[in-house]
Amino acid sequence: LYRIRARGDLAGRRIVITAGPTHEPVDPVRYLSNASSGKMGYAIAAAAAAHGAHVTLVSGPVSLPEPAGVGVIHVTTAAQMLEATQDAFATADAAILAAAVSDYRPEQAADHKLKKAAEPIDNIALAENPDILATLSQSRGSRVVIGFAAETDNVLENARKKLATKGCDLIVANDVSRDDSTFGSDTNRVTLVGPHDETELDCMPKEQVAEKIIERLHDLLEPDEP
Ligand code: CTP
Ligand code: CA
Repeated sequence: LYRIRARGDLAGRRIVITAGPTHEPVDPVRYLSNASSGKMGYAIAAAAAAHGAHVTLVSGPVSLPEPAGVGVIHVTTAAQMLEATQDAFATADAAILAAAVSDYRPEQAADHKLKKAAEPIDNIALAENPDILATLSQSRGSRVVIGFAAETDNVLENARKKLATKGCDLIVANDVSRDDSTFGSDTNRVTLVGPHDETELDCMPKEQVAEKIIERLHDLLEPDEP
C-alpha cells in the first residue's frame, strides 16, 4: 500500500503518552502523591491524535475529560503505570512521558484503614518506584522517547543530566517554581533540551506547548524528510 504522509502528519504512527500523578497507597483511604493536574500530558495526547497518530494515553488519577480519539488506560500506582506503558510501547513508534510519577511508595500498604488511637502513623517506610522513562529508554532501539523534567532550581543543568542519564531523545524542561508554569496551571514555560540543541519557548497555553512537542516528535521520527 502506498501512502503519502504530509509534513506534520503522524498518520500510521503509534504513540504512548503518560500523564498525571500516581497514587501510592498507605491504606485504603490514604495515599502519597503530588500536585500534577495531568493537563500537559492530556494536551499532548489530544495534539498527537489531531495529527493522525494512534494514541494510547496511560493516565494516573486526574479530573480531566478523556481527549477525543485517544485510547485511555487508567492506572493508579507507578507499578501499574510502568506495566501499561511497557505493554503499549511494545508496538509503538514513540513515547512521551509527561506523568509526575511518585518517586516513592509505602513499602507496605495496610489492608484496612489505620486508626489514630490503635495504630498511629508516626513513620512510613518507603521504597523507590521504578523509573518508567529510564526503563523505556534503555530498550528503545530506534523508537523515540521524550521525557520531562520538573525542576525548581538549576533547571537546564538538571534537564541535561536527565537527558544523559535516562538516555532519551529529548527532555522538556519545566521550571515549576514560576507562577505561569507551576503544577495545575493552564500555561507552561519550557525549554526543549536535546543532545545538540536547546530551544527556549515563551510562556504559552499548554495546548500550544503540546503542538511544539509534537512538531519536534515529527522531526525525530522523520529526520530526513525534506
Ligand atoms: N519518570 C518516570 N518514572 C519515575 C520518575 C520519573 O517515568 N519513577 C519520568 C517523568 O515522567 C519525567 C522524567 O522521568 O518524564 C523526569 O521526572 P522528574 O520527576 O523530573 O525526575 P526524576 O528522575 O524523578 O528525578 P527528581 O524527581 O529527583 O528530579
Ligand atoms: Ca521525580
